[in-house]
Amino acid sequence: MKIFETHAHLDFPQFDKDREQLIKKCFNKDIEYILNIGVDKKTCNASIKLAEKYDRIYAAVGFHPHDATDFNAEFIRRKAQHPKVIAIGEIGLDYYRNLSPKDIQKKVFEQQIKIALELNMPIIVHDRDAHEDCYDILSRNNAINVVFHCFSGDEVFAQKVIEKGWFISFTGTVTYKNSNMENIIRLVPEDKFFIETDSPYLSPHPQRGKRNSPLNLQYVIEKISEIRGTTPKNIAELSYINACNFFTLSK
Ligand code: NI
Repeated sequence: MKIFETHAHLDFPQFDKDREQLIKKCFNKDIEYILNIGVDKKTCNASIKLAEKYDRIYAAVGFHPHDATDFNAEFIRRKAQHPKVIAIGEIGLDYYRNLSPKDIQKKVFEQQIKIALELNMPIIVHDRDAHEDCYDILSRNNAINVVFHCFSGDEVFAQKVIEKGWFISFTGTVTYKNSNMENIIRLVPEDKFFIETDSPYLSPHPQRGKRNSPLNLQYVIEKISEIRGTTPKNIAELSYINACNFFTLSK
């Protein structure tokens, strides 16, 4: 069984004490690839550093909507061309916390979409309470290779995303009691989803509240397989193949 962790922040300080041991453990436990995600200048650089150190770690670079006011287009364009950088992200809109003004978030999101299209790279979208605006900005720029990371929309929005040919990514939130993801997990075509942890955040049940790590992907896999009425092995494989196709990594 091969597992692709498509969204982690292993450069964050929560991993300072045991980063190396943890990464080793992941690679000994079926995890084939880890995509480490940047959210600002510092974490983009740190993600690339991790990717340079480990063969099977790759990096994504982008300015998170929280950090939109610090956006630097030249920085992203330059870092995106590093051989271990395989996506632009996480980028998007966050109207839940609104840590940057909305108009700046939108402008910076659009500029980064344009860079991704120019470089022919997939886009990892952070969308919190901003479904329609994310959809509109991506659509009007004709973005093709798009994943909604930690999907949080309803079924109608999921259908719209799927009709566009975009992907849906599931985190540990699917294991929560108040999760309303069951129908979305059922309706998503088998070639349009993959999985992630968003470590160190969003630990799945029964680890909720603790630091998350890629090792907890098993809970996400189990929950999805239970809902779709298939085996965990099947879900791990589908997610792996879909993510390899999406990020153009060899299987
Ligand atoms: Ni994230």
